[in-house]
Amino acid sequence: GSKKCDSRGALIVLEGLDRCGKTSQCSRLLSSLEKSGHAVESWRFPDRNTGVGQMISSYLANDSHLDDRAIHLLFSANRWEKRSLMESKLRSGTTLIVDRYSFSGVAFSSAKGLDMEWCKAPEIGLLAPDLVVYLEISPEQAAERGGYGGERYEKLEFQKRVAESYKTLRDATWKIIDATLPIEDVEKQLREIVMESVLTCGEGKPLSELWP
Ligand code: TMP
Repeated sequence: GSKKCDSRGALIVLEGLDRCGKTSQCSRLLSSLEKSGHAVESWRFPDRNTGVGQMISSYLANDSHLDDRAIHLLFSANRWEKRSLMESKLRSGTTLIVDRYSFSGVAFSSAKGLDMEWCKAPEIGLLAPDLVVYLEISPEQAAERGGYGGERYEKLEFQKRVAESYKTLRDATWKIIDATLPIEDVEKQLREIVMESVLTCGEGKPLSELWP
């Protein structure tokens, strides 16, 4: 018969404030999935390797000035230029662990005062994640971790507004992990949630698009 059951990789997105520990959790998750024999890749946005990514990188380093809406659209374009590769990886069975996605796009730009619906519009039609994990930490605690690298958004007052935007954005499908727990505990919780999603996608859950 024509029973639809296309096994595919899962699109896993990690979100959170700067210094929430996302990046180290992404790499831990990557090695743990690799060790257990999964086809998996770790991605991140912004992807600073493309031409658009280099413009974003110079903006974040305060080496260039851009209109708030212009930079917002560049972040979005940076996801669009990876969309078809993303889809083919997923369909070929590779799970993608993605450090930041459209939710960062909306949370950071709306924290500047841009209208949230306006911010969401250019993301329409990008692939919808199968799972969004939010690593929760207060802006104050994140700042205490030190090592704000001095990039444009890495300031306490701004991160407070980003935290508020994330609150508005998140829905019942997001999984929240307390990012202030010991690193191994966060890792363990994350792995459990992710394995569940990898399993459902392996069983043929259809791919969908933003915003569901
Ligand atoms: P990174 O530190 O994870 O490389 O991200 C760089 C900064 O860019 C971070 O402060 C979050 C911000 N950002 C946006 O403003 N919009 C976006 O769409 C993305 C992906 C990140």
